[in-house]
Amino acid sequence: MKKFFALLLVAMLALSCTAALAEKVGVSMPTKDLQRWNQDGENMENLLKEAGYEVDLQFANNDVATQLNQVQTMVDEGCDVIVIAAIEGSSLGAALDAAGAKEIPVIAYDRLLMDNANVNYYATFDNYMVGTVQGEFVRDALDLENAEGPFNVEFTAGDPGDNNAGYFFNGAMDVLKPYIESGKIVVPSGETEFEKVATPTWKTEVAQQRAEDVINSNYADGTELDAWVCSNDSTALGVTNALEANYAGSNWPIITGQDCDKQNVKNMIAGKQAMSVFKDTRTLAAQVVKMVGQILKGEEVEVNDTETYNNNVKVVPSYLCAPVFANVDNYQALLIDSGYYTEDDLK
Ligand code: BGC
Repeated sequence: MKKFFALLLVAMLALSCTAALAEKVGVSMPTKDLQRWNQDGENMENLLKEAGYEVDLQFANNDVATQLNQVQTMVDEGCDVIVIAAIEGSSLGAALDAAGAKEIPVIAYDRLLMDNANVNYYATFDNYMVGTVQGEFVRDALDLENAEGPFNVEFTAGDPGDNNAGYFFNGAMDVLKPYIESGKIVVPSGETEFEKVATPTWKTEVAQQRAEDVINSNYADGTELDAWVCSNDSTALGVTNALEANYAGSNWPIITGQDCDKQNVKNMIAGKQAMSVFKDTRTLAAQVVKMVGQILKGEEVEVNDTETYNNNVKVVPSYLCAPVFANVDNYQALLIDSGYYTEDDLK
């Protein structure tokens, strides 16, 4: 009898250890197409594993149905927390409902999950500030306060299905709008509305196509372009390609970006892109791993914004990391000395 109880005790101990070890975190990333999501996914996986969790990391090939299936599978296989960077913020409702029914906490990663109550936390960079940094850079580089102008400026924004895209665009537009209204900035294409300048899927080729159309219709006669405000690096790349192939003006315009993707940093070094915004994915991943730990240990979850991010159902408690201005003058310290890239990455 004694032996039986001893065995039972050993079995129970073993079971509870497996249960503790088995804490599993699902990580759903939008695509491997864009450099940043590969880095985000890899950072999260490494940090979560280091913290002792099992990880199910999936990339959804920018296909909403695939991401829905992947998240549903994470729910079905009993993940303890699910972290999601959505392709389209409002398309994962069914999987979020399923997570809610099983009381699985969900963290929206970088992009807010919309129109659903089962979003527990949001961790991102300050998206509006990203746009402000871009707008202020253009304002100062063109010296809009003092110079006479007028200056020709065009805009390219992100994916309308990504809640971040509006924040980036509005951040930049709020800085530059007064100059458009006063006539110091002219937008020859006439396209200043988000819907008009948006880039579905954020794809380089899509941004390039619109940029070619804008250049052909408005700049073919050699009209000078002073700046092209692009919300991120993948779209900035498309605009740069289009300008290189089709622009007939004599001065190279200021082009903005965001993410410090390798190709764009090379373009900054080559003088083709004026700036980018560095969002250290290591910082965001570390913050989210911290959140996961706090949730699973039942501790208070650290947030620093409980007002800004309303997903149409609720304000989601958020942690906003700070984005950092980057250009050819500081990329060495920001990106290389910090170990984010090697010199070889940028050759
Ligand atoms: C991210 C950006 C990224 C863009 C395209 C946005 O949600 O915040 O960093 O450039 O998606 O992937």
